[in-house]
Amino acid sequence: MCGIFGYVGGRTAAPILVNGLRTLEYRGYDSAGIFVPGSGAIKAVGPIDKLAGKITGTIPGTAGIAHTRWATHGAPTEVNAHPHTDMAETVWLVHNGIIENFRQLHDMLAAQGITFQSETDTEVLAKLIGSYYAGDLLAATKSALAVVSGTYGVAVMSEKNPSEIIVARMGSPIVLGIGTEGHFVSSDPSALLEHTKDVVYLCDGDIATITADTYRVRTGSGEKRQRLAETIEWDKAELQKASYDHFMLKEIMEIPEVVRNTIRGRLSVDRGRVKLGGLEAVLDDILKLDQLVITACGSAYLAGSIGQHLLEEYANLPTRVELASEYRYRKHPLSQKGTLLVVSQSGETADTLAALRLAKELGQLTVGIVNVVGSTIARETDAGVYNHAGPEVAVASTKAFISEVVVFVLITLLLARERGMTVTKGSEIIQALEALPATLETMLGDTKAIKVLAEKYADYKNMMFIGRKSHQPVAFEGALKLKEITYIHAEAYAGGELKHGPIAMLDSSFPVVAIAPKDDVYNKMISNIEEVKARGAPVLALATAGDKQISKIADDVIYVPQVYPILQPIVSTLPLHLFAYYVGVSKGINVDRPRNLAKSVTVE
Ligand code: M6R
Repeated sequence: MCGIFGYVGGRTAAPILVNGLRTLEYRGYDSAGIFVPGSGAIKAVGPIDKLAGKITGTIPGTAGIAHTRWATHGAPTEVNAHPHTDMAETVWLVHNGIIENFRQLHDMLAAQGITFQSETDTEVLAKLIGSYYAGDLLAATKSALAVVSGTYGVAVMSEKNPSEIIVARMGSPIVLGIGTEGHFVSSDPSALLEHTKDVVYLCDGDIATITADTYRVRTGSGEKRQRLAETIEWDKAELQKASYDHFMLKEIMEIPEVVRNTIRGRLSVDRGRVKLGGLEAVLDDILKLDQLVITACGSAYLAGSIGQHLLEEYANLPTRVELASEYRYRKHPLSQKGTLLVVSQSGETADTLAALRLAKELGQLTVGIVNVVGSTIARETDAGVYNHAGPEVAVASTKAFISEVVVFVLITLLLARERGMTVTKGSEIIQALEALPATLETMLGDTKAIKVLAEKYADYKNMMFIGRKSHQPVAFEGALKLKEITYIHAEAYAGGELKHGPIAMLDSSFPVVAIAPKDDVYNKMISNIEEVKARGAPVLALATAGDKQISKIADDVIYVPQVYPILQPIVSTLPLHLFAYYVGVSKGINVDRPRNLAKSVTVE
């Protein structure tokens, strides 16, 4: 949700700022802008290319700030685009987050004669800092932030002092980059990889001053805070599209390797056991649990829902899954010994973070399944497991989703073996896990059939997905991905729920994607498919290779290999991700940057 980038050093700033924004574009792409002291601000509506197109010739200046926007307050217009400035056009800033008391601050400043151009909360912050500014930008920023409530990652500059950037964080991610030719600020470490792997994560309440060769971090009241540089593991090559048309396709194609990375060094076939170093210290507490609560948003929530089925079925552990956006607003009659497991690719999702913080306040043990190392959720959980999926750039989560499910398989196995699963069964599952990447590779080796089906179904306006047991969340994931990157109205239901209402919508214009691998509810799914066919709706079934029965009822079939049942949801999801991808492409949609969305949802 909005990306911030800044640079102060010895090189020409403008191209560095624009390139930084390109990497952060996944965070929002309504409009973008840069400010370089001495050269002013340039803004454009639309993707970064539009901004780049407006930057003609060399812009002098070796420091600046930049922003790519996902609109919260005010439409995506040039006036609302960041950077915003004060009345004297001296103080400029870029902001990610929401200033909750902006209306009160707006009225207070308006009473002082200050006027506003935009509809944004950010402009209010710029005017507020400007109202305190008397030559000391740090002091003015501190005074302003002391009266602000809400969330912010903010980078502020003064036209009068191009050699420093003031950076502050409260609730929105922000990281400093320590380079050899200057210092950087970014919403996300991935945009820093071009320049440095040494980063400093800021914490809530931190206010930093960066210059070309120094960084200093203090609290709002001036106390020194020691924030040491850490090294990022990712490589900048992972952020390139390579020969693929889209990041989404590249990331789907990476899935076999991602699974290898997720399981690497964590399996012991002989002992039928899993080793998760990040959980060792809390394993005894987890083993004493009466119930595990999982919370997350979007696809991460659906990975958690698959996890619930696996944990209950194989580890016999009662498990509940909640949307993080609801978790924090409900009453929690929790026991002191409870554990909250949060799942997040980015590790920055505001609702998930808020749920995590609430659980901590309630005295819960918190555990994370997180992809981005060093992210806020990774740092604030008591323990956790990294999925090692590498950077995920496309807005639609694919490889990270699969890796989250793989982590759930690992946690399930870890707990199941402690709770009575035999060595033999543990070893069988581990062998199946080790064989999984090769199976996925074979599936990805020929995607033509899925592409043809996607083109056949692309013109429908509605689609229904159904599945049962652990394939119910798979159905929801298939529908979510289709909505997100094709804008087709897609719904998902447990197969047995159709007849309780949604079947009323079905007719020949409303196809149903039925996820029906050969498992213990296969016959139930066949009955559901018959019910759908009786209403004249086309059926696209996802079935186990060799299933002849289903081809006689369904209009079309996508076949998937049969794997160990605990792994079947992974194998079933892969074609649904590809299906959504090819539908989106055939509709001419920019699948990496679908409308209205942002990769990392850092507002609540
Ligand atoms: O970074 P997170 O995993 O916490 O993100 C959660 C959701 O915002 C995310 O999964 C979203 O639903 C994806 N765009 C789905 O493809």
